[in-house]
Amino acid sequence: MMYLCAASEVPEGACKGFNLQGEQMFVVHKQGQFYLYRNSCPHLGIALEWLPDQFLDVGREHVQCAMHGALFRINDGFCISGPCFGDSLQALSLRQQDGKLYYLPEG
Ligand code: FES
Repeated sequence: MMYLCAASEVPEGACKGFNLQGEQMFVVHKQGQFYLYRNSCPHLGIALEWLPDQFLDVGREHVQCAMHGALFRINDGFCISGPCFGDSLQALSLRQQDGKLYYLPEG
């Protein structure tokens, strides 16, 4: 497993982006849960954020793609609005252990 950061670095309602050996991903912390997604919009396959660590809409209710405004549910990555409606962000495996967050690569 690959170390991401301390859990305290992603407070409730915040996000944090990572580039691990060329793989872009981001953590969202919402209602006590941490979620990890690949930082790739299903519409065009580009990174979602408009500024570093800015992945949410103004109300912090959804993940938002900065390019065309697609909105994704935080808890499962499903696109509820935008050009890729019905598609989903790719969820990645996250482990929380001893106050630290880790990415668990497949395989
Ligand atoms: S690239 Fe994300 S909505 Fe178009």
